[in-house]
Amino acid sequence: MQTTQNESFESSQSPLHYQDLRQLSINPNHWYGVAQSRDVNDKPIGITLWQNQIVLYRTRNGQIQALADRCPHRFVKLSRGQVVGDEIECAYHGWRINARGNCTAVPYLAENQKLPSCQVYRYPVLEQDGFIWVFPGDPALSSQIHPLSVPEWDHLNYITTVAVIDCKAHYSFLIENLMDMYHGHLHQDYQAWTDAKLENLHENGDRVDAHYQAQSYYRINKIWSISQLFFPQLRRLHPEPLTVSYIYPHWVATLGTDFKIYCLFCPVNLMHTRAYLIHFTSLNAFHRLHKLPIAFRRFVKNSLFGSAQNCWMD
Ligand code: FES
Repeated sequence: MQTTQNESFESSQSPLHYQDLRQLSINPNHWYGVAQSRDVNDKPIGITLWQNQIVLYRTRNGQIQALADRCPHRFVKLSRGQVVGDEIECAYHGWRINARGNCTAVPYLAENQKLPSCQVYRYPVLEQDGFIWVFPGDPALSSQIHPLSVPEWDHLNYITTVAVIDCKAHYSFLIENLMDMYHGHLHQDYQAWTDAKLENLHENGDRVDAHYQAQSYYRINKIWSISQLFFPQLRRLHPEPLTVSYIYPHWVATLGTDFKIYCLFCPVNLMHTRAYLIHFTSLNAFHRLHKLPIAFRRFVKNSLFGSAQNCWMD
């Protein structure tokens, strides 16, 4: 399985000066957000990360497992089967595979027959900030490289909206188009900012930070501020710093203190990319709210989940 993976990553590699950006492979030695936590439960789901078909499921203690989505018997997708205890049972002949990728049961095995010794490839996987992250590269490197941190996900002062974008295009197109600084025209009355002017760029390893001065349409500092989302007449353009950080393969945009947007990329294959656009509206300015019981603040955060869905994410 490992050989197959490396082949798939190398197939689109060529000397640097001949590489077409739209044909580039991914760097497998990174963590990729492949699903939302809430999408993975006791039913297996199949996802694809750069041609690697992977089955995700939870064991009884809630732990996420990620195995190659291919039964070692006759190669049926394990994601078509079911989770039994901490194992996954293939839909075809009922072989059971445990979280380490070993076969633990074959329903029709005679007493004098041994279990087949097979090894389904097990991907490094973790759950963090509302997402399931998979590391498709060298497993030995997975503990040295960290997934992008999204601390606002659990922070009670941020209202969250998630949009899932499936696009039949190479991931480089989505990185460019979802952070196209001058596409506000498309959003008409729902632009967050305008008139962004680049002030400086800082590059450091896999990360580039672009600092702009922009004009923001929104100021979230009063309880009625939320009505600005629905009534353009209430908005007043005002200057705010805007920072866009490209942290391979994802990006993060921060507008003043009111808004933050993360874009997580899951390249499916050369011509298909899934992006998770996570929008956070800050409630940091509402000091009285911060003194209320945590359970109530959690209720507010959960109740307003998705409230920006019809605005910027249309
Ligand atoms: S194909 Fe999976 S058990 Fe036979």
